[in-house]
Amino acid sequence: MAKEVYYSDYLQLDKILTAQQTESGKNGSEAHDELLFIIVHQAYELWFKQIRYEMQSIIDILRKPSINDNSPDVFTVVHRLKRIASIWQLGIQQIDVLETMTPLDFLDFREQLRPASGFQSFQFKMLEAMMGLKFADRHGKDFYQRHLRKEHIEDIAEIEAQPSLIELVNDWLERIPFFDEVYWGKYENIESHPFWRQYQQAFANTLNEQDNSIFSGFNQTFFSEGKSGSNRLSTKANRAAIFILAYRDYPILQVPFQLLDTLIAIDELMATWRTRHISMVTRMIGLRTGTGGSTGADYLSKSRDHHGVFNELAGLNTYLVQRNTLPQLPEVLMERLGFR
Ligand code: HEM
Repeated sequence: MAKEVYYSDYLQLDKILTAQQTESGKNGSEAHDELLFIIVHQAYELWFKQIRYEMQSIIDILRKPSINDNSPDVFTVVHRLKRIASIWQLGIQQIDVLETMTPLDFLDFREQLRPASGFQSFQFKMLEAMMGLKFADRHGKDFYQRHLRKEHIEDIAEIEAQPSLIELVNDWLERIPFFDEVYWGKYENIESHPFWRQYQQAFANTLNEQDNSIFSGFNQTFFSEGKSGSNRLSTKANRAAIFILAYRDYPILQVPFQLLDTLIAIDELMATWRTRHISMVTRMIGLRTGTGGSTGADYLSKSRDHHGVFNELAGLNTYLVQRNTLPQLPEVLMERLGFR
């Protein structure tokens, strides 16, 4: 007969509930708020583990050689991305709990934590790498080499060497065949494509004289060769993405739209978490440097501003036009999109 499962054995509570060892206690003068500080950090690390797990499963689905946009695969990706977004919502709220600790309470044990720091959260850095942040694009690279353990740097480098979420989303977008000749007939190059001629005109009609740079941004985003500058998405992927964003009411595009929208939401939620973390840091330690030795709030603001991965996707919304000015789609394409 199978052994009966017992709640606390199943959850291995003997391990979890004995894993809070305060430094102040070890040093002979227990600081009351250090337990809260440890538990909040541990809760985050457990959630980071769950997010890594979801993210890896999403990467595995997107790595399949071909995924059908109308299959459970894309739906599963969206479902799991939404779960990740919910976890980040919770992560933002959790800061309120830690902020019940006052700066004076924190000072009772803070000095005993040096040089440990949230900067050494290798899971957080793994998550950034899984999403698509490369070492070369990290703010404070030198700091990174000095403060993370060699094995953690290696684990993160291993993730960076594999296809990231943004790269796989780019490939998925590139494979979507909205602008194929079967729908539109023959065309010379993308700028003379019937859809893009009309869309560019509809967009130009929304601009005034001062908007010249926005118009050249449009051409750069959708017509330049391959990837422009340091962009993570190719112009081909940008074309598919704006099509999904603009024609999202068509049945077949609703799930792909949610996929893009949730990626943008996750970036925004992480930036909100970073902003809340910065205000907490300023409130707790003012202008002091971090226990990890960075410039504290200043370092964190720069990493917040540089570590967004899906901001180009959000930037595509610059190029949306009003629904009633969108190019009319050919019948065959509408059929494919599920409205006929
Ligand atoms: C009293 C509360 C906290 C303070 C004063 C604080 C302070 C700091 C500071 C100053 C840094 C910059 C690196 C350094 O020099 O140490 C940092 C980084 C970081 N902290 Fe916190 N932190 C707090 C709570 C948390 C919590 C609850 C988490 C949740 C996991 C967290 C996660 C991180 C992460 C992931 C980084 C690296 C961010 C990046 O590199 O962009 N921190 N923290």
